[in-house]
Amino acid sequence: MNTLEALFKPRSIAVVGASRQPGKIGYEILRNLKEYGYGGRIYPVNPQAKEILGLKAYPSISSIPDSVDMVVVSVPAHMVPDVIEEAGRKGVKVAVVISSGFKEIGRHDLEEEIVLRARKYGMRILGPNIFGVVYTPARINASFGPKDVIPGHIAFITQSGALGIALMGMTIVEKIGVSTIISIGNKSDIDDADLLEYLAGDEATKVILIYLEGVKDGKRFIEVARKVSTSKPVIVIKAGKTEVGAKAVASHTGSLAGNVLIYSTVFKQTGILEARSVEEAFDWARTFSYSPEYRDGDLVVVTNGGGAGVLVTDTLSMNGVQLSPPPETLVNALKPKLPGFASLGNPIDVTGMISNEGYVDAVMSALLDDKVGIVLAVYCQTAVTDPTIIAGELIKRIKELGGLPKPLIASFIGGEEVYWAIQKLNNAGIPAFPMPERAASSVAALINYSRIRKRLLRNA
Ligand code: ACO
Repeated sequence: MNTLEALFKPRSIAVVGASRQPGKIGYEILRNLKEYGYGGRIYPVNPQAKEILGLKAYPSISSIPDSVDMVVVSVPAHMVPDVIEEAGRKGVKVAVVISSGFKEIGRHDLEEEIVLRARKYGMRILGPNIFGVVYTPARINASFGPKDVIPGHIAFITQSGALGIALMGMTIVEKIGVSTIISIGNKSDIDDADLLEYLAGDEATKVILIYLEGVKDGKRFIEVARKVSTSKPVIVIKAGKTEVGAKAVASHTGSLAGNVLIYSTVFKQTGILEARSVEEAFDWARTFSYSPEYRDGDLVVVTNGGGAGVLVTDTLSMNGVQLSPPPETLVNALKPKLPGFASLGNPIDVTGMISNEGYVDAVMSALLDDKVGIVLAVYCQTAVTDPTIIAGELIKRIKELGGLPKPLIASFIGGEEVYWAIQKLNNAGIPAFPMPERAASSVAALINYSRIRKRLLRNA
């Protein structure tokens, strides 16, 4: 087992500083690990305890009778170097150091110390100053974030702890499935490039999302990101873009936020998709994680609302995607079924008088047209339609096809029924959003990534 694999597929995990007291970080990590269903061996380490959460506790790492692949360290910073030394001697492959009190408060010496000690033994360090790591395929939740993380295909790497924990909670509420959530904090050893490299080969991960404050080794990050982007989309949300923001970054994780323009240029060159907000980053990630790959073919927008159609046209254009007239085959198929005042341009406006069946038929016709490569379905709630019926019928018809043959992204706009329709669509693996701009920006991300990937492969 290579050392990074030990972070995702350890056969055993020791929690050093596993507390006996509910509410303390060391207790909550142990509880998450146990209750989320990790199948390997778990060893609480605490010199004061005999047993915690029904698990036999050990006074030290060296007293554990078996081999240990990963340790999660939750003791005060000054004790961490000794724990690392002992873990190294034991043959531990990776240490997840939760403790704060290192580089972020100026204790560069203490941080260097733990890295030097780990290196002696070929052990890797994640952190310090982190909330932990989650890997859903192995049912590992070694974090003090929320427990019931939903399995899925998004890898989320975050340099911010508290924001990361909060977003972990958001993924649960929004039903966004993740393969992994990794808090990297001070990045004393394992950094974004290491994780990108590993996750490129991780079968459970379809898309990688990074909340980034600063990069440690720019040259390596560029090399790795460019390579990984040829196989999986990498989305970055870069914090510290303004002068004051950059100052905040320095006191947060001790990173250099760097020049905004340089970062944006590097992202473009390496094929990284730069999101403008956390919401956009997760919208894109959800879309990539659900959708079949967009290769080529026309983009067709089907809407029953002219205004919503204009908004998505604007958003697509602002994101570098222009609409062209729909394929003739599709126009010919739809013309006899639509009112005379329907617009058969792109967006195709099926008008506000369309019925449930009429709307579903139009979307399905677009989806099944050979010249169409991607469909954006924009629906506005009207009194003559029912969004839950439309969502249910779309899901049924797509199931009958054996799944989505090409990307279909939906925006359902309206009241309470629309909320439930969106949930239904997302649960069925059709990315759906309450606002047209969010759906359009996600469509543009799919198309732009396909262009980027082709360019990177051509230049490889
Ligand atoms: N080996 C193992 N366990 C030990 C040892 C030892 N050598 N010595 C003591 N312990 C036990 C303690 O007895 C205690 O268990 P108990 O509660 O049953 O008595 C347990 O280890 C923890 O030790 P404490 O001294 O009580 O430490 P505490 O839990 O208060 O704090 C912590 C430790 C959480 C690592 C703290 O120092 C810290 O760094 N907190 C910040 C963590 C953080 O925020 N990280 C960034 C996350 S991201 C974000 O911003 C959310």
